[in-house]
Amino acid sequence: MAKSETKKTDKTGILLVSFGSSYAETRATFKNIEEEVRAAFPNQEIHWAFTSKFIRKKLRKRGEQIDSPAEALAKMGEDGFTKVAVQSLHVIPGEEYENLKKTVAAFSGMPKGIDEVILGNPLLYHHSDMERLTQVLLRNLPKDVTDNDAIVFMGHGTQHTSNVYYPGIQYYLWQKNPNVFLATVEGYPELNQVIEKLEQKKWDKVYLLPFMTIAGDHARNDMAGKDSDSWQSQLEAKGYQVKSVLSGMADQDEVVQIWIEHLKEVFQKINNK
Ligand code: CO
Repeated sequence: MAKSETKKTDKTGILLVSFGSSYAETRATFKNIEEEVRAAFPNQEIHWAFTSKFIRKKLRKRGEQIDSPAEALAKMGEDGFTKVAVQSLHVIPGEEYENLKKTVAAFSGMPKGIDEVILGNPLLYHHSDMERLTQVLLRNLPKDVTDNDAIVFMGHGTQHTSNVYYPGIQYYLWQKNPNVFLATVEGYPELNQVIEKLEQKKWDKVYLLPFMTIAGDHARNDMAGKDSDSWQSQLEAKGYQVKSVLSGMADQDEVVQIWIEHLKEVFQKINNK
């Protein structure tokens, strides 16, 4: 190679993408994810993007600027990144994930931009993810839970075909622990269906836990809120003693490690090219 020809050296980086949240309490969860990712990839620059336009707008009004995935990828291209590993912090491969996939495809090989953008799987994708998350969640249930307590996870739920991951993970959970239930806010199964199951046995307490990346709006209002239609209020109205746990799945390092595993797969693809 002649001296005048400069060999293009790769500049790689990570883009973490979440739906986002405007709740200040969720900052610690995002920080925890970043710290875990930094420990696993100490030489990579870490960038963030939120997919929710509504949340980005709300944060902007408060003086907090968080990019959309497209904005973040455009900036990283400008900054000379040649290969970017994008990690979805979504739970299932639903609509949010599919939209991100389209953005990633659009930015891959863009002239004068990034050569290669590769997307990591959401938390749940393969059978092995289902098994691993099941183990991690059951291992990290609240300390004071007894065999006479029921655990009810609140998943988001969607009209997208990938909603099947929710009844799917319920099956995995039941294989290991029949006291653990899962319902969704916007999909199937619904809380009423779980209540029917709960009524078949006598319980001391019912624990409510978010089956979501962060304990944001759904956890704080739809799950644990004071309104009569929150899950906690509905269960209390049925006579149950309810304990709501306001922490997202990403507060657990072992859960974050599943996303990190997916990010490692992305780097394997990047390094093999
Ligand atoms: Co929602």
